[in-house]
Parts: sequence; structure tokens; C-alpha cells
Amino acid sequence: MPARHWFPCAIMAMVMMPVALTAQYPVRDGSVSNIAPYLFAAADFGINPEDVTFTKDIAPILQRSCQNCHRAGGGAPMAFTTYQETRRYATRIRDRTAIRDRMGAMPPFFVEPGVGIQRFKNGNALSDEELAKIQAWVDNGVPEGDPADMPPPLEFPTDQGWVLGEPDLVLRSIDVTVPAVGPDRWGDIGIVPTGLTEDRWVHSVEVREINDIPTDAAATTVGGRYVFHHMTYFSGVLNEDGTGLVSQGRVWPVHEIGRNADVFGDGVGMLLQANSALSLSASHVHSTGGQANTGHLEFGFKFFPKGYEPKYTSSIRLGGNGIDMDVRPNQAGQEFHSYDVLTSHTKIISFEPHLHAPGVRMCMEAIWGINRFTLNCVGYDHNWVKQYLYEDDAAPLLPKGTILHIIGFVDTRADNPNLADTRNWAGSGRRSVSNMFADLGQMVRLTEEQFQAEMAERRANMKDKNTYDIGCPLCWAPQVIEAATATGGGAP
Ligand code: HEC
Repeated sequence: MPARHWFPCAIMAMVMMPVALTAQYPVRDGSVSNIAPYLFAAADFGINPEDVTFTKDIAPILQRSCQNCHRAGGGAPMAFTTYQETRRYATRIRDRTAIRDRMGAMPPFFVEPGVGIQRFKNGNALSDEELAKIQAWVDNGVPEGDPADMPPPLEFPTDQGWVLGEPDLVLRSIDVTVPAVGPDRWGDIGIVPTGLTEDRWVHSVEVREINDIPTDAAATTVGGRYVFHHMTYFSGVLNEDGTGLVSQGRVWPVHEIGRNADVFGDGVGMLLQANSALSLSASHVHSTGGQANTGHLEFGFKFFPKGYEPKYTSSIRLGGNGIDMDVRPNQAGQEFHSYDVLTSHTKIISFEPHLHAPGVRMCMEAIWGINRFTLNCVGYDHNWVKQYLYEDDAAPLLPKGTILHIIGFVDTRADNPNLADTRNWAGSGRRSVSNMFADLGQMVRLTEEQFQAEMAERRANMKDKNTYDIGCPLCWAPQVIEAATATGGGAP
């Protein structure tokens, strides 16, 4: 019985790929201001603009995409739970949603529509039709509509809540107090024992800050609402007297202000060992500009069931660098490029652009043989360091040898509101006013069998040969029959 298998090597695949895609990432000058807002006419969606009301059309959008932040105690500076609360912000709601994928957009989810993969676990982007409704509603003088159409209010946890639900294990850092006004501080804030007596595989981790800043405090930036800017941390096994770690284990996804929780996905896990501790090795804390404040971090872990062995372990991809950047003053559209060759078959779990204050956009391309296609382009706002978690069946499945190309865009003109200085050259560095250019997303390495099995699942979901699965260049590659080798002939 001749073994049937998919391309065993890159050369054959390149020769036989049936489609040649050269969809380059869309050219934009990468500046904050030079892109028109996304405007839509309600009539194009079969909607009479005059029929659009708050209770029927707008409230459901706010509930789904805004209220987890825009509610009492939700983190955003104003609530959008009732008509009265919302109507005075109507114009700003229209404007901030219409910029959609750029710095300052609301909701803060900056994936550019119409290019690359569009299915994310944590996506709360608005559709074209929803933007059309918001725009029609504002243009028609924000009518309230029939109160009977109002959806029942959502229920929110009374404390700050866990986005992913109650964790199995919560670990707490020490309290950190910052003065009303003072310099930023970096450094180690100690270890936190996990208390685990056996190894546990982690399904998701969420980090939240608990502080004494009043939830209704006037804050014009997100930084005014939090003490911690970020925390880089790892876990490892405790030494005998419990004062330090004998070895460094996993580096966990960085906690950053505005960043979302990490769900590693089914079949993917990260290990928290028995008798381990978290080492909170690199915190960055800052004054909030209001008064002296105290805060701490809580790390909430959800576990896979005991005894579970995940198929894959996740690791952080690091495309780009923060070493030798050369950022010119007062100039839009500056680009940075990094190319990495994948040394094994790879499933990309998430895309996490990391730039600093000058950053405005990042794209990720996969180059495979004669194919070059854009996996995603996303806007960047240094107030919101976002991670984009692909749906399991939409995550890029890239063969060994693929070149991952990351493109970062920075804008150092005054149009970029996150920028402190338009006049001076800036290099690389850890401060937000210096620069980094990296993709901190998660990936898993796949064996040949795992790669084939994942592709077989994709193919089963694809309707016909005209469907192209972005990010899976070999999904429709023709099969190769190995019988040729048995008769001494070469592969086709
Ligand atoms: C992840 C949390 C989060 C989500 C989700 C979110 N917002 Fe916001 N929003 C904020 C924060 C924090 C601010 C204040 C900082 C800023 O302006 O960027 C803000 C500010 C705003 C402002 C500016 C108000 C002003 O004073 O100018 C508007 C308008 C707004 N949001 C609308 C929305 C709408 C509409 C949605 C949903 C479609 C939404 N937001 C979703 C957190 C969020």
C-alpha cells in the first residue's frame, strides 16, 4: 500500500502550488491623519436612515462592544448604558468608531477590515452595517425610539470582575505605592509562591490591577487610571527555603495596561510547575498625575483538568527587535521590516504588535514559495497594547520554511497624539519615548503529523477548491503519491 502524504519538502510544494497569490499588504503612508474615516450609507444595507433609533439599533451595539468598559466601574471614563448617558457623547461615538482601525478608534480593536484573517476570539469590532447605523443615528439627531425596544440591561460583576470568569488560582503581588507626581520606577517586586503541589497546565491567564484610584476620577489617558504600566514575569521552581527560584521556567505573556487576557486555546497550554513561584522581575510603575496611589496586580489562572496533557505548548514569537532602530523626527510613514524563516511547521495563535509611542500600524505577511500574502494589518495605539487571538480554525498554519515578514509603521509628527517629541531623532530603548519593533504573539510548533492533521481539518471546512484559506498555503496543495520512489523514479 503506497503511503500517501502531503508535500514532504518545500521545493516540491513551490513547483506545484496551484495558485499564485501576491496580495501585498495595503499601502498606506502609515500616518495617523491621512486616512479618511469609514463612512457608510444606511440605505446600502436596506435600512431607512430615519428608522434608526437608540433603543432598537444602537443599544445592542453598545452592549456587545462597549459596555464591558463603558459602564460604572468598567474602566472607561464614561458609561454608555442608558440613552441619557450616551446621547451627549453621540458625535464622539460616531467619530471614534468611524476611524475603526487607527489610533484612537473605539472599540480599541484595530484590525483592518478587508485584508487578511478576520476571525478572532477576542474580536469586538463593529461591522460596516453597524457603523452605518451609528452614522445615520447621529445625522438624524440621535432619536431615542420606542422604550419597549430597549434590550434588557446586561449584568456586570460588582467588583472589577474577571473577563474570563472566576479563575482556579489567583496570585497577588505586593502593594506598590506611587507618589502624586514622581519619576517612573522599574524593577523587581519579588516572588509569589503558587502553592501548587503538582504540575498544572494553564488554559488561560488574566492579569488585573486593583488600585485605590476612584473609578470616576477624571483621567484623560488610560495611564491616569492605573499604577502599573507593565509587568514582565516568569515562573520557576522554588528553592529549599522558599526565598528564590532554582531555575527559570516559562516566561508568561507580558501584562501591559490595556492588554487583554491570554487564552492559549484548546490543545495548547503553558505549564505551571509543582512547588513553583512567579517571579515578578520587571515591573514598570508610574504616578497617575492625580494623587498618591496604591495598587497591586492579581494573576488569575484557569487550568486544564488534572492529568491533562496538551497537544502543543505555546511559546512567544519574537519577530523584529528593539536594538538598532533609527527613527527620524517629524516624519510620517517610516517603516521597519523584519524577516524570520520558520524552522518548523507553525500554527500562529496570536498576533501582538509591539511598538512604542511613535507606532501607528503593523502588518504581518507570510511568504511561501511564489506566494506572498498578508495575514493581517492592524493599527497601533500605544495606549492599547492589544493581542489579537485567532479563532482556532482561522489561525495561520504555516509550513516550515515560510518567511514571516513583519512591517512596523511609525509617525513622529504632531498628528500622533501619543508622541512627546517631534523634534529629535530617536533610537531604540525601553522607554515609551524610545522605540521597539516586535511581534510578541504566541505560536506553537507542529510535527509533520500534527501539521497534516490540522490541515485535514481545515480542508473539511472548505467548501470547494475555489475557497482559499488565508494563512494555510498548503491547504489545497495537491497530494503527492510516494509510489514514485518505489520504482526508482523521482518525485514529480
Ligand atoms: C476595552 C475597553 C473599552 C471598550 C471595549 C470601549 N471603550 Fe471607549 N473608551 C475606553 C477608555 C479607557 C476611554 C478613555 C481613553 C480614550 O479616550 O481613549 C474611552 C473613550 C471613549 C470615547 C471618548 C470620549 C471623550 O470624552 O471624548 C468614546 C466616544 C468612546 N470611548 C466610545 C466607545 C464606543 C462607542 C465603544 C464600543 C463601540 C467603546 N468606546 C468601547 C475604553 C473602552
